[in-house]
Amino acid sequence: MKALPLKVAASVVALAGVLLGPVVVVAQRSEDQALQAELAAKGLAIVKDKCASCHATGMDDASPHEKAPPFRDIVTRYPSENLAEALAEGIVSGHPDMPVFVFEPDEIEGFIAYLDSLGPETQK
Ligand code: HEC
Repeated sequence: MKALPLKVAASVVALAGVLLGPVVVVAQRSEDQALQAELAAKGLAIVKDKCASCHATGMDDASPHEKAPPFRDIVTRYPSENLAEALAEGIVSGHPDMPVFVFEPDEIEGFIAYLDSLGPETQK
């Protein structure tokens, strides 16, 4: 009868693992979401500062510059990572009205998160 308590203990541990596993995953996920939201807010602040004089930054506002596409349209044409790459190298567009910007890595991270927050998932 000595083995029984051990077995019970093992079952309790296993049960705890089964019960707590998803809790840990959910906690991780909401942490990721919080981080993502924080980055997106940072990205929004950057585009408001550097880009909003021409590009629409929200889901239904109009671009101040008539030829500058709203970011919500740009994200449907390019994956956010590709845009970020272009930004990291300093955006060069053929358009004379569009100045060249060079983004710092942490700004790019924010910019991607911001673009993703406008992305196809949000627009569904
Ligand atoms: C002075 C106005 C102005 C500012 C400021 C500006 N843009 Fe633009 N941008 C434009 C215009 C105009 C176009 C369209 C160019 C064209 O179609 O020839 C454009 C095009 C783009 C495109 C290409 C879209 C496409 O479909 O090819 C991207 C990406 C872009 N801008 C990103 C940005 C980002 C990021 C910022 C801020 C860091 C920014 N722009 C700031 C005027 C501006």
